[in-house]
Amino acid sequence: PDTPAKTQRLSADTAGIARAAELLRAGRQVAFPTETVYGLGADATQDDAVAGIYAAKDRPQFNPLIVHLPDVDAARALVEWPEAAGRVAAAHWPGPISLVLPLRAGARVSKLVTAGLDTLAVRVPAHPVARALLRATGRPVAAPSANRSGRISPTRADHVLHTLDGRIAAVLEGGASEVGLESTILGLAGAPMLLRPGAVSADALAATLGGPVAARAEDAAISAPGQTASHYAPDAGLRLEATAWRPGEARLGFGPVDCDLNLSKAGDLREAAANLFAHLHALDAGGPQTIAVSPIPETGLGAAINDRLARAAAPR
Ligand code: TXA
Ligand code: MG
Repeated sequence: PDTPAKTQRLSADTAGIARAAELLRAGRQVAFPTETVYGLGADATQDDAVAGIYAAKDRPQFNPLIVHLPDVDAARALVEWPEAAGRVAAAHWPGPISLVLPLRAGARVSKLVTAGLDTLAVRVPAHPVARALLRATGRPVAAPSANRSGRISPTRADHVLHTLDGRIAAVLEGGASEVGLESTILGLAGAPMLLRPGAVSADALAATLGGPVAARAEDAAISAPGQTASHYAPDAGLRLEATAWRPGEARLGFGPVDCDLNLSKAGDLREAAANLFAHLHALDAGGPQTIAVSPIPETGLGAAINDRLARAAAPR
């Protein structure tokens, strides 16, 4: 009965943000912009609200969710805070990195958020609309990417509506996500472990922490269940590392190549990351059987871009 017939588009002004906050406090699901991708938010303290995220996304199982907070103090109220967390937060928050830390005893967070784990992923986003919304809501907000399960992550309000229209109460419109890739996830419950590459690179984290950061072995026990095989999938198949185009393919270029859409003509990885999901959405809409993608260097942000491309190309 709570499922709205139509999803409200809210502009990101004072009234729109207040309305979105009111919906969140009432236990509804609201998509909102962050600098990484759009998130599908719900009040992390209410079981029903969080369950509504899984229902809207058709998430087959309860993967743990990232909790979004307006500032470091709000995060520290929910998780234990080792020195390393302080360093990373000081250097990179607000910003595109999530920290997995031991859940504080008695923290008021629904078990559906942690999927029963004794750790919690927390993030203080930088996007001004996200921050205003979190302040106005006054509750921790759980938010996965605002797309149906297994689909490409949204970097525009239109992408959100493409798969979630009618399934969520509202979307707060905040323009294009600047980073364009989901946050880096750093595990700090034990030795620092990179659980998902993102805009904050492993090298930057090693510099912040003054020591190396291990990457999760591909076959290790899944501590970030959303990180498995097929994810971020367009309808089309993906052919990676394409150095020559084949007839009939949609052509996603990088660098000075002739193609349908270019991630970055200048070969700029930041620009490529920001364009990645939007270009995949756009090419996929044409209904091609295959999207061929130019090679992307593995340096800097390229590691995170290639991570998402590999998942999108995985058999499903
Ligand atoms: O940029 C982002 O991180 C976006 C925006 C909305 O903030 N959110 C996002 O959420 O990408 P989602 O659900 O698509 O990805 C969350 C990832 C999943 O891979 C999940 O398994 C992992 O975080 N995760 C969450 N809690 C965890 C925990 N306690 N331990 C390990 N991994 C965790
Ligand atoms: Mg996702």
